[in-house]
Amino acid sequence: MSTTKLPQRVSITEVGPRDGLQNEAQMIPTEIKVELCERLLAAGVTNLEATSFVSPKWVPQMADAADVMARVPRLPGKRISVLTPNLRGLEGALAAGADEIVIFGAASEAFSQRNINCSISESIERFSPVARLAKESGVRLRSAISVAFGCPYQGEVPVADVIAVVRQMQDLGCDEIGIADTIGVGTAARVREVFEAAGREGPLELFSAHFHDTYGQAVANVLAALEVGVTRFDTSIAGLGGCPFAKGATGNVATEDVVYLLRGLGIETGLDLDALVDAGQWISGYLGRKSNSRAGNAMTAKRPAP
Ligand code: HMG
Ligand code: MG
Repeated sequence: MSTTKLPQRVSITEVGPRDGLQNEAQMIPTEIKVELCERLLAAGVTNLEATSFVSPKWVPQMADAADVMARVPRLPGKRISVLTPNLRGLEGALAAGADEIVIFGAASEAFSQRNINCSISESIERFSPVARLAKESGVRLRSAISVAFGCPYQGEVPVADVIAVVRQMQDLGCDEIGIADTIGVGTAARVREVFEAAGREGPLELFSAHFHDTYGQAVANVLAALEVGVTRFDTSIAGLGGCPFAKGATGNVATEDVVYLLRGLGIETGLDLDALVDAGQWISGYLGRKSNSRAGNAMTAKRPAP
């Protein structure tokens, strides 16, 4: 196992308003989505994944993407990103003034079909003009590779299949390539293997880790990725999240839990943990359930009664 010195600083992309809320069965009003974004920005979030310009037939919860984007505050030094599966999505993102777009593919054919209704090679063909136009428009280009640690339909996903998609995302000129454990099955050894393999394709700063927590491994997997040299992580407030096309998958690793881990390691994130806990408790209260963040719940329990 090759380990590097832990970084002094880590970059967090908050995906709660998108990955978190896309999976909610009840329709969330636009003003609640916007208030969540405002609270996250106020807590120091500088990379915020706000919404998705996807087909409302596929993901009804994201149908108000343009309205959300029109109301999310734009502040200096804060990057607002959105998911765009195709040119139609990119047009929406550009019209809305997104700073970054995310194209999202998969490391298994079965998941690619279920999530975006095309094969992996068709998805890359579809992303090609999206990537070109994003670059021409001066928008940062990020990608996500789903089911890189296991697929709900195919099962095992070979590391070579993940790397094959990594190479195609590199060819598209991605500024960042997210490697995602969509169903939260990965363990630390596998995380090391995948990111060490990715690191042989390009600098590790190019890659980010996106872990769902279905099997309770996500915080351990963040540490494993950190030890390999990964410095970019997607996290979700209150551990919200899930993909409507990955049955049984639960939320992302909670932002509060990751910031608690990093703070303990002396790693800077620029995020205010107390304000994150407030935001996590607030959205969980709105959704009518307990937060999935263990750190958030523990810190809340220690606060004086109002
Ligand atoms: P399709 O049905 O093959 O495409 O869907 P289509 O071109 O035939 O379009 C179908 C309808 O959607 C048409 O409407 C289009 O106009 C419309 P109709 O003519 O029938 O009235 N449409 C759109 N509307 C708004 N915005 C658009 C758009 N595109 C088409 N951009 C498509 C293909 C890719 C569009 C569809 O499969 C889709 O939107 N999929 C999105 C799936 C999704 O959002 N999944 C969750 C996000 S990914 C994720 O969570 C994983 C991640 O977190 C990492 C991880 O954990 O793995 C990122
Ligand atoms: Mg996800």
